[in-house]
Amino acid sequence: MIAAALALIFCPLPLPAALQAAAPSTTQRFGAVSSSQADATQVGLDILAVGGNAVDAAIAVHFALAVTYPYAGNLGGGGFFLLRDAHGEAWFLDFRETAPAAAQPDMYLGADGQPLAALSRLGWKAVGVPGAVPGMWEAHQRWGKLPWRQLVAPAVALARDGFRLNESGTSSLQQSGELLRADALAAHLFFDGEGMPLPTGTLLRQPQLAATLETIAHDGVDAFRSGAIVDELVAASAAGGGILSAPDFRDYQPQLRPVIAFDWRGRTILAASPPSSGGIFLQQVLGSLDGFPLRMWGFRDARSVQLIGEATSAAFRDRNRWLGDPAGRDFDLAALVAPQYLRARRRNLSPQRYTRPDRGLPQPFTEHLETTHFSVVDGDGAAVSCTTTLNGAYGAKVMAPGGFFMNNEMDDFAAKPGEANQFGLVQSAYNAVIAGRRPLSSMCPVIVVVDEKVDAVIGSPGGPTILTSVLQVLLNRYEFGMSALQAVAAPRFHRQDLPPTLRYEALRLSGTMRNHLRSLGQPLESRDFIGDVNAIFRIKNRWQAIADPRWNGAAGVVTNP
Ligand code: GLY
Repeated sequence: MIAAALALIFCPLPLPAALQAAAPSTTQRFGAVSSSQADATQVGLDILAVGGNAVDAAIAVHFALAVTYPYAGNLGGGGFFLLRDAHGEAWFLDFRETAPAAAQPDMYLGADGQPLAALSRLGWKAVGVPGAVPGMWEAHQRWGKLPWRQLVAPAVALARDGFRLNESGTSSLQQSGELLRADALAAHLFFDGEGMPLPTGTLLRQPQLAATLETIAHDGVDAFRSGAIVDELVAASAAGGGILSAPDFRDYQPQLRPVIAFDWRGRTILAASPPSSGGIFLQQVLGSLDGFPLRMWGFRDARSVQLIGEATSAAFRDRNRWLGDPAGRDFDLAALVAPQYLRARRRNLSPQRYTRPDRGLPQPFTEHLETTHFSVVDGDGAAVSCTTTLNGAYGAKVMAPGGFFMNNEMDDFAAKPGEANQFGLVQSAYNAVIAGRRPLSSMCPVIVVVDEKVDAVIGSPGGPTILTSVLQVLLNRYEFGMSALQAVAAPRFHRQDLPPTLRYEALRLSGTMRNHLRSLGQPLESRDFIGDVNAIFRIKNRWQAIADPRWNGAAGVVTNP
């Protein structure tokens, strides 16, 4: 499958006419968009073309994805919005879900004290208080230029008039079919009378969602604070055994958090602070790899792979042990990225060693794409890197009466500190289920700044593989010297602490490399795809926007605002 993916670099998937000349695409001045869905990318380009800034375009893309990419795009989820504005100031807006006020630390444990995974993953009890609408509203109030209604309007039109379902839309409906059909609204919208998913090419209209979006366009965030949308949602939650309440919606607040900014060999990496683990992870891994001759060894060298895997495994150990909602932290985060700490970490890394995790058997683990990332830049040099999610595919597999899926973000908490979640991550009491808290996240929107200008905007879905996917794009581009397209397309690998397996896309490891890594004791496992990076790079003062050739995304540029 990877071979097929790489072939796509040279033979891109069919795209709508406006995007065809633009994957990858370059322009001088006016901006660019990369997302996982062509209609959403087009919406962002249209907003830039009429004079919207990067924040305007990002808000419009977010709402469009809620219509055209119900797998992960959302009104019922949350995410992270990283901005570097036209004046060079960086901002991190956290609109992640919170645990409802009625949440209890043991709410996902059975009578035997063990986690009941289905409870935190499926159905209304798995749903956190969504932050998407308040988050987009907050971004608009702070940094938007065009009127709010203008930014929501394209999503209203896509929901009301319909969009054509693409191949991955149909196949993801197929994969989640059994669970989705249990929800009456989802069964009615996305499946035919025989329970088959709508075929590729279907014009999918979503009237309930169109009405919800019209209310949001008209009332702004108030539509998600109280009123019919919230009342119906809370009633559906109660009927389905959930714990969402009207005050949860009234009280939800997006948070401005510190931007993690650190120097990496003369570049500034801007990333998200907790509840994202992204910034700390990148700072740790890039800092601990400093001084090793990765560039000399090269991308296709077993030493590079093993060393990076050891570094990411150690960083995951710290992530899982120490990180969670900042409200629960009782130590200074600086300790995790202090120079002496990273020096000690570096001394313990070796490209010739496999470090076995302290304990535990490999946990079941599958890479998920069930989040989405989009990148936007505008003609004034502002950039938005936004990762947004329902957590699992179609979230908790329940739809609000307003026609949108609800997240299952509660599974990102440690249901029982010390036990694995759906991603095989074993996390600590810092990430316990506590009312009002936000669960630890791997979402990792990044902006790279060189000589005071945005040089790259990067992010990916994929649960914990988000962290290693973003890391590898950075290393590919800036350490291994790849072109922007190669940096995104090059086959990836992933290693976290537990389970200890190094997972790799087929073309990443040669047979010789695999034999060498096995001889060190490193367990290996091949995967189909890791990550779905939607990125934008500055190449000689032009934008090159790239949608990951592994999937059906689309990237484009605007040249005529
Ligand atoms: N729900 C995936 C993450 O936040 O890491």
